[in-house]
Amino acid sequence: MPESLSSIRATLDAHDQGHLLAFLDELTGPGAERLLTQIAGIDFGELARLMARAGGREVAPVRSGELEPAPFYPRPTDDARGWSDEDRHYRSVGEEVIRAGRVAAFAVAGGQATRLGWSGPKGTFPATAVSGRPLLGIFAEQVLANQDRYRVTIPFYIMTSPLNDEATRAFFHDNNYFGLNRRNILMIPQRLLPSIDAETSKILLADKGTVAMHPDGHGGAVNALAASGALDDMAARGIDHISYFQVDNPLVNVIDPLFVGLHTAAPDSSSQMSSKVVPKTDPDERVGVLCRRGGRTVIIEYSDLPPELAAERDETGTLRFDAGSIAVHLISVSFLKKLAGGEGPFTLPVNRARKAVPHVDTRTGRRVVPQTPNAIKLEWFIFDALPLADAALVYQTSRLEEFAPIKNASGADSPATSHQLQSDRNGRWLETHGVAIPRDHEGHVAAKIEISPLTALSCDDLAGVQLPAAIEAGEEVVL
Ligand code: UTP
Repeated sequence: MPESLSSIRATLDAHDQGHLLAFLDELTGPGAERLLTQIAGIDFGELARLMARAGGREVAPVRSGELEPAPFYPRPTDDARGWSDEDRHYRSVGEEVIRAGRVAAFAVAGGQATRLGWSGPKGTFPATAVSGRPLLGIFAEQVLANQDRYRVTIPFYIMTSPLNDEATRAFFHDNNYFGLNRRNILMIPQRLLPSIDAETSKILLADKGTVAMHPDGHGGAVNALAASGALDDMAARGIDHISYFQVDNPLVNVIDPLFVGLHTAAPDSSSQMSSKVVPKTDPDERVGVLCRRGGRTVIIEYSDLPPELAAERDETGTLRFDAGSIAVHLISVSFLKKLAGGEGPFTLPVNRARKAVPHVDTRTGRRVVPQTPNAIKLEWFIFDALPLADAALVYQTSRLEEFAPIKNASGADSPATSHQLQSDRNGRWLETHGVAIPRDHEGHVAAKIEISPLTALSCDDLAGVQLPAAIEAGEEVVL
């Protein structure tokens, strides 16, 4: 046992968390020792300090006139023949940076995927429309294809959590690392924090012998990358920038040369942190919007953007606040080091996220499955780093090209909607190359079309591929 029971009791009592041992006497076999080990691993003093810090941070309400849309670089046309000299310049700068081995891929995959309800790590979810390629497999194949293209090693860092790290490692092993060298796939578990009852500030028990824990948010990446030695590993490998993306978007462009070129070379970029956005679907879309506030680039959550600003349109009818975040960023390793080396473990602010957390009532012993948020999860958000950058660049890409999120089991942002968006994009790529594509009355592609990253990373790459003359309605095609 890591510490004597009496010293654990004393620590718990000092922090008013003695209820965590309410069922100790009922635990059989190794259950009691497991619980005590888990409790001994919690830094209650730090938790109290974080709660106090998070409590003190209120988002100042937006006052009219203080918020401007963030200026952004627009995506050039799909067909590279329509690109300006400037577009070509930045793409070729980005290609040089990639070819020099200075960019790594970084997926944040430590989330709990509660909404999707998938039993394994979200990254193992079968995401493509026909063959069900798993999310992490799609990204690994993009890395592989880019390695071949640029004849360089592109390390693939993946943030896991202690709750899914082992399963993620086993998944890569079982899939033979999708053809990548296993030494270049690096799993980095983020840390877990106890979930806290919002009313009583008591830590929740997930069951009688387990403290309810949650990963510390995607912003926990800063701490995880530093504490695991990954930032040093990057420096040793000559990596200057990470291409950050979430695990739930099968259309994400893992290595985007134009974005890399803008991030590293545009005059209005500090090369510390850049963000990729897409046009919003409508004023009410529930995405964060990139804005300028007090001379800094910030993400304003949809709930904080006043409706009258969200609805403003320019003379062409386009929303003024149109830079919808898709949580894709380029971040320099030196900036990450700066963030990680600030006062305390983070310079990023800590947030109180309110979530519904199932738990055991320590007075009755009954299991409670709340339908509304009952708990506080302390979390860090990576986008809170944007205003800390000297100059954050924003690049707006096309939604159809790069965004098909899988968040929920059904309805919006579900596998079904993502499959349609994937087929819509792939159909458009094929049409550009003369393939006849069936469409339904709403203009969506009426077939399931999958294109492997090993076949084409972009529309242009299909130029050398043998393609059918037409695809029939209802057909399932894998290229
Ligand atoms: P989401 O906010 O969609 O959360 O995470 P989630 O955990 O995947 O899903 P729900 O809310 O439980 O249904 C956005 C991205 O950030 C990662 C997720 O893995 C996903 O790629 N993430 C989130 C982490 O890596 N760690 C975290 O602590 C939270």
